[in-house]
Parts: sequence; C-alpha cells; structure tokens
Amino acid sequence: MELVNLKVASDTASFSQAVKRGLGQEQGLYFPTSVPTLANIDDVLAMPFVERSIHVLKALIGDELGDGTLESIVKDAFTFPAPVVSVSDNVATLELFHGPTLAFKDFGGRFMAQCLSRISNGEPITILTATSGDTGAAVAHAFHGIENINVVILFPKGKISQLQEKLFTTLGDNIHTVAIESDFDACQAMVKQAFDDPDVREGLHLNSANSINISRLLAQVCYYFEAVSQLSDTQRKELVVSVPSGNFGNLTAGMIAKAMGLPIKRFVAATNLNDTVPRYLKTGEWAPNQTVATMSNAMDVSQPNNWPRIEALIERGFLDKACLRGECVDEDYTQIAMRQLAQQGYTSEPHAAIAYRAVSHDLAEGEYGLFLGTAHPAKFRETVENVLGQPLSLPQPLVDCSSKESQAVTLPASYDALKAHMFSVLK
Ligand SMILES: Cc1ncc(COP(=O)(O)O)c(C=O)c1O
Repeated sequence: MELVNLKVASDTASFSQAVKRGLGQEQGLYFPTSVPTLANIDDVLAMPFVERSIHVLKALIGDELGDGTLESIVKDAFTFPAPVVSVSDNVATLELFHGPTLAFKDFGGRFMAQCLSRISNGEPITILTATSGDTGAAVAHAFHGIENINVVILFPKGKISQLQEKLFTTLGDNIHTVAIESDFDACQAMVKQAFDDPDVREGLHLNSANSINISRLLAQVCYYFEAVSQLSDTQRKELVVSVPSGNFGNLTAGMIAKAMGLPIKRFVAATNLNDTVPRYLKTGEWAPNQTVATMSNAMDVSQPNNWPRIEALIERGFLDKACLRGECVDEDYTQIAMRQLAQQGYTSEPHAAIAYRAVSHDLAEGEYGLFLGTAHPAKFRETVENVLGQPLSLPQPLVDCSSKESQAVTLPASYDALKAHMFSVLK
C-alpha cells in the first residue's frame, strides 16, 4: 500500500511507516494513493466477519506485512460482533459497542495495537496519551498485555466519572495510569512537553497512537461491510447510512468502503450544533464557529481533523460529492429522537440518536436508513436516564470493573514529576 501526505506530496509512506509515524510532515494526513474496487461484492458479503475483514484489508494494504501477519492481526483484534438491529420498518442501527470498552473505538484501537505490536518487531514502544475519559479506556484495553509496548495515560484527578476511570485504571500490567492534580488541558500540555523532550521521546520511544492513525481508519472500513452483509437485497439497493460525526473518521471509513464498491447509495453526515460540515455542504463556505458544548460531547468539534481525507476522496475522483449530505441536529431534537427510539423499544444515547434523527428526516420514499450506534447507552448513563426518566442497568464490562481497585498513581501537574515517574516505572 502506498500512502501520500495530503499536505506534502513528496512525503509518501508504506502502511507500516504510516502506522508508526501517525502524522506526516507538517502534521499532514496520510491518504491511500489508490482505492481498490472489490470484485464479486456479493461473494465478499457472504463471508464471515473476520474472513471478510481480512479480504477487505488485504485489498487495501496488500502483502507488505508478510505471510499470515494481517490474518493474525485481524483475528486478534476483531473478537466481538457488530450486529444490525432494526428499530422501525425502514430504519436499523449498526451496534458498534460490543467490544471491551463499549464503543466503536474498540475496532480501530485494537487493530492499531495489534499492527504496532507486529510492525515494531519487538522494539520497545511507549504510548503516551491524555484522556478526558473515552480514549483512555479504548487505548488501555487495546494495548493491555501486548509485549514490548507500555502505555502511560494521564487523566485529570477527580474530573472524570468513577466508572469511566475504573475502566482503564484497574488493568495494571503494561498500562500505567496517572491522575494529575489539575485539569485535562494540563494533562495534554504535559503530553506535548514529553513529545518535545528528546530524552523522553527517544529514550522511551514515544508514540501517540492517536485517532488520526491510518490503521484505525482502515479497521473501521470493515464494519460497513459487516453492516451491509446483514441487510436484505432490497435494503442494500436503497441504502442510506447516517454517521454521527465529530472528527469525521467514521464517515471517512464509510466513504472508503463505498469507493471499494460496497452498495451504499449515499451518506448523511450527522452533527450536533457544531455544524461546520453540514453548513459547508450547503453553502460551499468553510466557516467554523466557536465549538459549543452539547449533550453529544464526543462530537463537540468544529474543525474536524479528518475532513481533508473526505475532500481527497472526492477531489481525486474516488467518489462523487453528491453521495454526501449534511444534517445538523440541535439539543431539543436529540432528546426527541432518544424518546422516539425509546417508544419504539430501543434505548439509545445522544450520539446515535442524532444520526437516527438525521436519517429519519432525510430518508426518501423507498430508501432504507442505517445509523451507526457508536457507544453503549450506559456510557452516557446520566444523560440517558435524565432524558428518558428511567434507570439504566449496567452492562457486564462496567459491572466487572466497578468492583476492582484503581491502580493509578497521583502526581502534581509538574512535568519533572511525570518524567521521573516514567523513567522509574518504564526503565
Ligand atoms: C460516541 C461517539 N460517537 C461519535 C463520535 C464521532 O466520531 P468521528 O470523530 O469519527 O466523527 C465519537 C468520537 O469520538 C464518539 O465517541
């Protein structure tokens, strides 16, 4: 596979190089120079999930990882299902929250962890990241127990929910968690300082494993194939997929799947009030506003960092712009959508509810809508309970970790203290 930096055309990379580097020169995103079209899509769709995912990823990545490597990566990463669940006659949801941290990030995170562990060839790596909740859990679980890779996760002490904290601080082993006596911005500033400090960057072989990594995106392509495989022929013919979007990684993956030949008629980019993209699609003007806080907080993004990849898919002729529409859903309609779903017997959280509202609003006669369920409702328990007015029970992974002891150490917001701690536990 050849990838090119969308900012610096002379900066190219193989898949392995792009996975290790994350971002390219001048913070540019890596993008495939070509997108293969799959032959015999119906046969591909008839395969089991893991086998089909290997087939799809082989078409994209090629043979560069060597015999059997991609196969074992996929088998180790994709160990949980992604079921399509019908919510009405013409709308269904793709539930992406059956992994260890109950969110779609488990697919990309686990695939990236398995790729890095194979690609690093036993060289030690330290993943350093700051979290305000969700990312920490996905990264911790994805890398837990992987040899030669240590993970250090900083989080603001007392500022994330107990349950969310337990999800990543109770693992131990190669997962080192640090509660910083400050806020999330201080945690992020300390991570940045570590990447700027050659002692730490080179001494501990730092890697950010951030969400822009190409391996995450390619992993996400696979669950769009899995979704369509569960639909009937009629549903496949008129399929509209609605994606709850913040940084637009999920939508980019879906559009790559379509470019590979997956039968998706069009997409709806569903956002909350941070609606830079829906406005851009309507007016042609890129005019980000100040980011506003909403109940779908993982989508509170006004400058989506994957957007250049979507533009590239269109500008380079892999897809027609007409296959993408945007819909902004405000706070009232988010709640209405959650209640409508509940009346139909389906409990959802704000992110998926936005995608549901957007597709219900947008669907034409005869079309079939599918919206992505990106997180388990229990991950947004308080909001869901408030909106629906009824208690929500916890799924097993949350019950299991809630009784375990946190192994996090507490440090002041001092870079020197963090550096000393890292060298003492990692060297
Ligand atoms: C629950 C949930 N839904 C949707 C999104 C948006 O995904 P993307 O950033 O790929 O657009 C996120 C992002 O973190 C999320 O956590």
